[in-house]
Amino acid sequence: MRAFFSAELLPGFQESLWRDGGNMSHHTSRSGVQKLVLGFLFICVTMVLYCFSTPGLQADTQRLPVAAPCRHPPAQKTQEQKLFHVPLGISKMERCTPKVNLMFLKTHKAASSTILNILLRFGQKNQLRFALPDSRNDFLYPAPFDHTLVKDYRPGECFNILCNHMRFNAPEVEALLPDDAFFFTILRDPALVFESSFHYYNRVMPLTWRIRGEDKLSAFIKEPERYFSPDGINSFYLKNLQLFDLGHDNTLEPEDVAVDQAIQAISERFQLVLIAEHFEESLILLKDALCWQMDDLLYFKLNARRGASVSLLTPELKAKGRAWNGADWRLYRHFNATLWARVDAYGRKRMERDVRELRRRNMEMSAICIDGGKAVEEGDIRDESMKPWQPLGENSILGYNLRTNIDQEYSELCRKMLTPEIQYLTDLGVNLWITRLWGWVKGIIAL
Ligand SMILES: *[C@@H]1O[C@H](CO)[C@@H](O)[C@H](O)[C@H]1NC(C)=O
Repeated sequence: MRAFFSAELLPGFQESLWRDGGNMSHHTSRSGVQKLVLGFLFICVTMVLYCFSTPGLQADTQRLPVAAPCRHPPAQKTQEQKLFHVPLGISKMERCTPKVNLMFLKTHKAASSTILNILLRFGQKNQLRFALPDSRNDFLYPAPFDHTLVKDYRPGECFNILCNHMRFNAPEVEALLPDDAFFFTILRDPALVFESSFHYYNRVMPLTWRIRGEDKLSAFIKEPERYFSPDGINSFYLKNLQLFDLGHDNTLEPEDVAVDQAIQAISERFQLVLIAEHFEESLILLKDALCWQMDDLLYFKLNARRGASVSLLTPELKAKGRAWNGADWRLYRHFNATLWARVDAYGRKRMERDVRELRRRNMEMSAICIDGGKAVEEGDIRDESMKPWQPLGENSILGYNLRTNIDQEYSELCRKMLTPEIQYLTDLGVNLWITRLWGWVKGIIAL
């Protein structure tokens, strides 16, 4: 039950119960009846939603094709073998085979939804087997990942791709993937992760409810010790969230040797750590490491926040944000340095050329797929299935409208590139009834 309630998912309940608690002594009998009625309604709706979301009753569920056992990756028909010219004018060609066994740790608030969409499309196109979550989209985050949480898991089973939100737990992940699986993740400047997380989750973090005034973030970051407690519900959203997602202690001080050990462990386990601030370079390095094609990297920025609601961090607040998240700041700087060392090894000129090519291809796709060529507010999205998941109490996340007359050849690709995470997972056959239930309750609370 604890795991059920502790994440982003249901804390709104805790919020409303907490508020009701204050009123109870005044209206005991009335609120008692109200609660009974609400409780009854809640159970009814849960049952109805559950029935509707049971795969058997769903008409439009697209089933994931059955893949070959994952120790023997399927023949790469769609993926031509990539050829490399070996330097020194030798005419010998060297081949590489696209990697299909992948673990992507989807960190919070770090452009990871965009990568998730890339991976879901790659896996579908190549008929790979995903280890998908069940009932919720995040493997009961913040509880550490457990392999039995995978949808349709049976002992001994093996998968190709694991890429949904989780709190990383190496042995449990390794139990599901072939030994040669490629592990990667993405980090972002911790001051910006903190800002984004504070904004997105502030209504589900009781620690921030008692902060007065308009600019809660500034108030918090000026005196974090006054408000923060590691025991607070969802407190991990407020401090070193990236170390937390990676399965480490998020309350460490930056100079603690445990931070060095965490960085060491992460660099040993993850073959590549992408950096959100250098997103395109990161993708090119990923393509190189996985022996993929440019086609596999095409993307639109998903889950972005409306410009107006991104509070511009002053240099002072940014510095405070980094200091408060000092352990993450060390982690980030370490992997920013390793990323650029890899860019150097790849060749700066070659990188510039590839990034230009990726941009050109993305703009081409944008002209083909996106109505008006840019992201729009939730209220302006015509198609219900294109609406992104919103934080509690507001509609700040942008989405897209598909163009109406898309060439047949591109219509499927365009739709997939623009489909938000929750709908995409549903299309893959995941029954997200808890997530949907919370979405419904969120709507009621927001009324
Ligand atoms: C990341 O590394 C690049 C290249 O060395 C550097 O220019 C940039 O300032 C670094 N970013 C941070 C936040 O340290």
